[in-house]
Amino acid sequence: MAIHKLTKAIFPVAGLGTRFLPATKAQPKEMLPVVDKPLIQYAVEEAYAAGVREMIFVTGRHKRPIEDHFDMTFELEVALEQAGKQELLDVVRSVKPDDMECIYVRQAQALGLGHAVLCARRLVGNEPFAVLLADDLMVGEQPVLKQMVEQYAEWRTSILAVQEVPAEHTRRYGIVAGTPVSETLMDVSRIVEKPAPEDAPSRLAVAGRYILTPGIFHEIASQPRGVGGEIQLTDGIAGLLRREKVFAYRYQGKRYDCGSKEGFLQANVELALAHPQLGPGFRDYLKSLDI
Ligand code: UTP
Repeated sequence: MAIHKLTKAIFPVAGLGTRFLPATKAQPKEMLPVVDKPLIQYAVEEAYAAGVREMIFVTGRHKRPIEDHFDMTFELEVALEQAGKQELLDVVRSVKPDDMECIYVRQAQALGLGHAVLCARRLVGNEPFAVLLADDLMVGEQPVLKQMVEQYAEWRTSILAVQEVPAEHTRRYGIVAGTPVSETLMDVSRIVEKPAPEDAPSRLAVAGRYILTPGIFHEIASQPRGVGGEIQLTDGIAGLLRREKVFAYRYQGKRYDCGSKEGFLQANVELALAHPQLGPGFRDYLKSLDI
């Protein structure tokens, strides 16, 4: 395969977000804020920090706020400028740096994550690309996608972010098995979507960060529906495995499952505690609670 720098990322944001109802009845899950930023902005910033400049959003109905968020807000900028609120103006403008491009494609029906990725096929073309699921909020000393881009630069093959999960959680994830290449890398030989603990080939679960070669599109396009009647990305990766190497990478950092209410609350508490301005006061407040 031709050697390419990774410049494109897909953000599938067309899901229904049913685990977060009623909050997601009329607003996208990816716009829920953790402390002061929507989930999708964390994911976009992570991709930008990894060198990605072309952000491809796979959207659906009720997802317009995501497009608005990454668009220019002319009236707001004028108002802040006139009021001399330069700091806030910088915050607003930094949401979309000038050298970042945002492209939108619709997934008419939420047929699954694999199908969402396939919707971006024409925009990606014959290049490797990243996939970031915004509801997996990743916090690492080095951004997780950047760690993966470094692995990609060395191995030039698809890379899946993985973490160890308790046996009773295997049903929530794609689970991989394979041969260790190094302490942090594994040559994947098997991937299974949401197995029961007794069928899981390991406890290594795929988190919401992927670097994939364009061969995945052909695999997804030719596969039948999988678990839950959805077109699964995991099944596409299982197909890709038969033709190309796929590596699993144990990332350094912490993942918050913000698609679940518990994970979302944990992210808010921990990121608020770590916030330079809010942190100290919030810590005092938590200590003052009689819990
Ligand atoms: P989830 O599995 O969390 O699904 O998707 P969901 O529909 O958003 O949420 P629940 O399970 O009903 O609560 C992971 C990511 O993939 C996107 C979602 O928007 C989310 O960011 N996705 C999922 C799509 O874009 N299209 C789909 O068909 C499915």
